[in-house]
Amino acid sequence: MQISTTLSSDLTSDERLAEILANPGFGLHFTDHMFLVEWTPETGWANARIEPYGPLSLDPATAVLHYAQEIFEGMKAYEHADGSVWSFRPEENAARMVRSSQRLALPELPVDDFVQAVDALVEVDRRWVPDATGEKSLYLRPFMIATEKFLGVRPSQHVTFLVIASPAGSYFKGGIKPVSLWLTENYTRAGRGGMGAAKTGGNYASSLVAQQQATSQGCDQVVFLDGQEGTYVEELGGMNMYFVFDDGTIVTPQTGTILEGITRASVIELAGKLGHHVVERRISIDEWRDGVTSGRITEIFACGTAAVITPVGSLKWDGGEVPAPASTVLTMQVRQALVDVQFGRAEDTFGWMHRIC
Ligand code: PLP
Ligand code: COI
Repeated sequence: MQISTTLSSDLTSDERLAEILANPGFGLHFTDHMFLVEWTPETGWANARIEPYGPLSLDPATAVLHYAQEIFEGMKAYEHADGSVWSFRPEENAARMVRSSQRLALPELPVDDFVQAVDALVEVDRRWVPDATGEKSLYLRPFMIATEKFLGVRPSQHVTFLVIASPAGSYFKGGIKPVSLWLTENYTRAGRGGMGAAKTGGNYASSLVAQQQATSQGCDQVVFLDGQEGTYVEELGGMNMYFVFDDGTIVTPQTGTILEGITRASVIELAGKLGHHVVERRISIDEWRDGVTSGRITEIFACGTAAVITPVGSLKWDGGEVPAPASTVLTMQVRQALVDVQFGRAEDTFGWMHRIC
């Protein structure tokens, strides 16, 4: 892919950038540039470019604004001690975006083009990659939107893929502490044949009212059950889940309707290396409640790119509550093993890291 670059004539000053990078928060500040490439059936992917970051001009009839034909990815670039910059398994994000595009009837962006686009933006905005203190990173948000001006309901004949970037600190205010969960029993995030396995904006829109409930109940995050039986644990609004049992076995839900995370897949391998048996299977909400109460479940954690690995605390529902599991030892061990690879402090035995610059 040929990428043309127009540099911003209004770069963020060194002083302002230092201020932002000292305390970036999550998703608040954006780098000086963005990547774009456009697709039509006639041209395929064309006009790949890096431009100054700025608002898009969209016709009010643009398809994505009406029918939510949209997909996105979330990944990070990390600075290592020698000043080099790396991403984590970017081809997995690219492959998931291909799967999402198949579900949303969007054109497929080749894996190599996806990785090249992300790399090119990070290189141009290299000075926005925070140093590794406090596990800061540059959060990358590739996304694809239906940009045809047309109100008929059919796959858009003009599509735009973009990448934007945002320096990130901890996803949760207050750093690593157990997240409390609210079990929603009246909302689900996915159904059979639905979009649960795709990373598409609509899934997040549908999670918001449940998240609102969680917040009003004093909980940090919401946990969803399967849509068919309302019995099996799926995931949180933006994270996958793991359960550690007292015999050392680790279980992560497998239902066919969850967003299968790249962190989730990596934990399977890392925990295996740490000597644990990881099982992907269905796990019911009663097994969770009973397991914590009896002590059979010793730890629960959630994982995702933005949140990394976070211990799960208490679970509350309409009419009851179970406390946090007893331990967070393995959770913190797996977390450390993961971030050590990401920040280049441990040998990358799986070949997960991709050097950008
Ligand atoms: N599940 C949902 C709904 C998510 O939004 C995310 C975040 O990306 C994940 C799981 C975790 O996926 P990953 O580890 O690839 O970030
Ligand atoms: C991520 O972890 O990258 C996510 O997409 C979760 C959330 C910020 C949407």
